[in-house]
Amino acid sequence: MLKRIVYGVCGAAIVGLGLFSLYAYNPSIEPITPTVNPDYSSQVIEQGKILAAAGYCSTCHTPPGGSAYAGNYEMHSEFGTIYSSNITPDVETGIGSWSEVAFARAMRTGVSRDGHHLLPAFPYEHFNKMTDDDISAIYAYIMTSVPAVYQVKKENGIPFPLNISALQAGWKLLFADTETFQANAHKSAEWNRGAYLAEGIAHCGACHTPRNALGGEKYAQMYQGAPIDGWIAPSLTSTSTSPIPWRSQDFYEYLTTGNSVYHGSAAGPMAPVMHKGLSALPESDIQAISGYFADLARTNDTDEPQSSSTLHAALAAQHQQPDQRIDEGARLYATACQACHYSSDQLVKGRPLITIGSATHLNDPANLINVILDGVRNDQGISGVVMPGFRDALTDKDISAIAAYLRQAAGENTWPKLQQQVGEIRNQPRFEH
Ligand code: HEC
Ligand code: HEC
Ligand code: HEC
Repeated sequence: MLKRIVYGVCGAAIVGLGLFSLYAYNPSIEPITPTVNPDYSSQVIEQGKILAAAGYCSTCHTPPGGSAYAGNYEMHSEFGTIYSSNITPDVETGIGSWSEVAFARAMRTGVSRDGHHLLPAFPYEHFNKMTDDDISAIYAYIMTSVPAVYQVKKENGIPFPLNISALQAGWKLLFADTETFQANAHKSAEWNRGAYLAEGIAHCGACHTPRNALGGEKYAQMYQGAPIDGWIAPSLTSTSTSPIPWRSQDFYEYLTTGNSVYHGSAAGPMAPVMHKGLSALPESDIQAISGYFADLARTNDTDEPQSSSTLHAALAAQHQQPDQRIDEGARLYATACQACHYSSDQLVKGRPLITIGSATHLNDPANLINVILDGVRNDQGISGVVMPGFRDALTDKDISAIAAYLRQAAGENTWPKLQQQVGEIRNQPRFEH
């Protein structure tokens, strides 16, 4: 079964229903008869196409092997299964009869045309940061260029009383960020462009910002790292555990090639963000996003990782030949991994130095375990470069021995209950990214 990203959960059960029934009420917006040749310029439509890609609309609205944007992508939350909507311009089952006003209301406030509240699995809180023009461009693109597909949305498997739409209103009242994008007058235009894209269409915080027990983003800890689909979306701020600072050129390298030589590869849920989403944006936008995050991480482009003693120590650690007769992890590493992750005096693109990479320096071993179990596919990390998975070749004990060895070689404290976590991740539902 395919599963995927559920950004927000629908934990509004605690919220008193009666209290919100007034607030919860949203009128239905009259259906329209679609125009045969809507009057949008080709530039606007092209802009909408780029934004739809950057917002990963199709990733969530297209099930594997299904028609583009026709919905019924299955997402799992701890409260039940959620299916995305058909957002093709089909009049009966899609959004073909939606006016632009109805579309903009859904994108900004998570309210469907008929007035019912949508679950926060649809990241409307972020899309609300977009300008009217950008939302309008996405509407123009969908209405003119996406083929209409007749497909009825499956009902979400959220049990009563969580499925009561008004509870979503309570959730919104408590947790949703309803502010539109506020430019920071003390920062450059480029910084603000990066912030606008990251907070809005690219919704980086949907995965990288920690959430409270009911699925609301903790804005005070924006981008400080969070679990998603059995992975960790690491902190992108100064709280990053990466031993080498993330400078803007490192973010840029990672977000354009799928790998930063000092940090690692974009695998798991980050792979489509980079390959299917950001790749649609012009270079200048990726640069703006990179500069914005480098500022949040408080790094300077002039920081020199080459001369960093941490880097030298990590290269030396990779060179070390621990006594393989007594260290099982070292022995397994030498046989299973070292042929590719070979020792060298220099970093080689596409041959990640594991002792320096984020996977070994995060407080949670989930990403390292996921990569060892399932590898890095062709369409993940660096394009066309693969790492095989060891799911069938190595036992939980083997994998935890390798992970423990790498963690120690990286100079970090041991991860507790490592073998148990390998077992849990091995048996968790396989997410398809
Ligand atoms: C992380 C997954 C995800 C992403 C990314 C996403 N959506 Fe959705 N969207 C959903 C889900 C799930 C629903 C249905 C929510 C529900 O059933 O309450 C939905 C519902 C909608 C609806 C409401 C449709 C209706 O009939 O009520 C619209 C419109 C929509 N999405 C447009 C978009 C657009 C445009 C983008 C890209 C800019 C996008 N979505 C990106 C998951 C996503
Ligand atoms: C769907 C969830 C998701 C979204 C959306 C997302 N990320 Fe990620 N991100 C992840 C995960 C998971 C990882 C870890 C991937 C790995 O280690 O292979 C990650 C890793 C990263 C890393 C590497 C961090 C490190 O220390 O190794 C950077 C940089 C990053 N993301 C930037 C971004 C930016 C910028 C955006 C928005 C444009 C974004 N991400 C949106 C899930 C996400
Ligand atoms: C056949 C060559 C090969 C083998 C064997 C191999 N790797 Fe890799 N590994 C790679 C390549 C190539 C990448 C970068 C993939 C990309 O970016 O597309 C990688 C990436 C990684 C990453 C970075 C992932 C991230 O999300 O940042 C880690 C960690 C890793 N390997 C660990 C291991 C471990 C541990 C082993 C042994 C169990 C191993 N590798 C065996 C080739 C290999």
